[in-house]
Amino acid sequence: LLRPKIPEGLQQLPGPKPVPIIGNVLEVGRNPHLSLTAMAEHYGSVYQIHIGMRPVVVLSGIKTLRQALIRQGEDFAGRPDLHSFRLLLDGKSLAFSTDLSGVWYTRRKLATSALRSFSIVKGSSAGYSCILEEHICKEGEYLVKQLSSVMEAEGHFDPFRYIVISVTNVICGMCFGRRYHHDDQELLNLVNMSDEVGRVLGSGNLADFIPFLRFLPNHTMKAFREINDRFTTFVQKIVMEHYTTFNKKNIRDITDSLINHCEDRKVDENSNIQVSDEKIVAIVNDLFGAGFDTISTALSWAVVYLVAYPEFQEKLHQELRERVGMDRTPRLSDKPKLPLLDAFIIELFRHTSFLPFTIPHCTTKDTALNGFFIPKDTCVFINQWQVNHDPTIWKEPFSFYPERFLSPDGTEVNKVMAEKVQLFGMGKRRCIGETIGRIEVFLFLAILLQRLQFHKVPGHPLDMTPEYGLTMKHKRCQLGALLRE
Ligand code: HEM
Repeated sequence: LLRPKIPEGLQQLPGPKPVPIIGNVLEVGRNPHLSLTAMAEHYGSVYQIHIGMRPVVVLSGIKTLRQALIRQGEDFAGRPDLHSFRLLLDGKSLAFSTDLSGVWYTRRKLATSALRSFSIVKGSSAGYSCILEEHICKEGEYLVKQLSSVMEAEGHFDPFRYIVISVTNVICGMCFGRRYHHDDQELLNLVNMSDEVGRVLGSGNLADFIPFLRFLPNHTMKAFREINDRFTTFVQKIVMEHYTTFNKKNIRDITDSLINHCEDRKVDENSNIQVSDEKIVAIVNDLFGAGFDTISTALSWAVVYLVAYPEFQEKLHQELRERVGMDRTPRLSDKPKLPLLDAFIIELFRHTSFLPFTIPHCTTKDTALNGFFIPKDTCVFINQWQVNHDPTIWKEPFSFYPERFLSPDGTEVNKVMAEKVQLFGMGKRRCIGETIGRIEVFLFLAILLQRLQFHKVPGHPLDMTPEYGLTMKHKRCQLGALLRE
């Protein structure tokens, strides 16, 4: 209501006129990635909407995103204080909390280093290039067997249901040093209900912006609280077990390495870090949560696209058959030999844009972007979907055409074009699991494509309409697969 004074030389943000109380909620609708992209055509790459009474700045266009998140990274690196973010992991999340920049930065550095040590550091795992490769190869081979036996018994399967357990086992291996059976009910209940979490955490959840909605009965918010509690209890139990069996001389996994960091810090009197032990160990919650939902969503989409584009599936299989053969499991070192698979994954990321917006950002001080004034503490939505479908960058942006990323002779991926695809954010808040995410999607997919031929099942049509959320998922479906010789 109290409009901040605009400094001289700067302009007021353009945008649609808000309606009292609800703001622009009706125009934003159920698919904000589509409506906010359409608004960008009208108002430009920096504009303001209101969700309820709260102003939100929406950024699109690759140049504007680079300007805000890289060149003016400090100004846009905050997270807004939203109701659902406060509920998530008791407000101790690294990715979603409003931690002051020093605390956030220290935790982010710790998370990055712990994650690296137990995933991609070279030469730490017998016979494999890294621990991550070992986990994925074993889980991938197991997934092929599992899907074949479900096919034999039932004649079809729900891809997400099985992929999510395999992917979760990889991150569980790194975080907790353990894996779960594909029929483990506790894990199934936890990971198969992640849809509600995505729906609540996606940009534009009304209960975050219109306070009275929090007090009305709301199925999604109820489910979100329930899964959140279940998730925290699940991780807490494992963390407690780690504390009781902790041995400084044998750091088994990420949880141990975070506990060890707390112990070391107590000995180091010069340490000036002001982060509680609880907040350090809670980092494992973020790594576990981010590590299974994003990658299983990507892989499940990949399998659905293989079924929707059967000729392309055959081309990908042929590439694997010719360049890797059928006698051994594909490895990370095969990647340069598989440009078509690489291009397929990049186009999958672009076309699905299954993370349509980054996690919402927030300005850390009064700032200006493209000549428009943006006050401190303004919530900012970053529209990745718009960049990935921008007709000024992509020819026929709505066609699924992996070859757009290949060099004319088909032997190499065009890196300049590939880098324009937005899925992991950029700048200070860029995803810390990007390398792991890309490796997992590539290797799991190579293993599946080598051994299985996926197909539609009569009576089960494919519905590829995404369901909006932080991660957009396809509707649950039934597919078939044949084992290849
Ligand atoms: C943040 C995408 C996998 C950990 C993010 C963000 C995006 C993203 C868009 C928000 C960036 C922003 O707010 O500007 C993805 C995708 C993945 C993936 C598409 C897989 C295909 C992972 C994995 C991990 C991870 C495997 C860890 C094991 C994180 C963390 C943050 C984050 C901790 C918060 C960073 C911060 O707030 O400083 N990711 N992610 N992600 N991601 Fe990922």
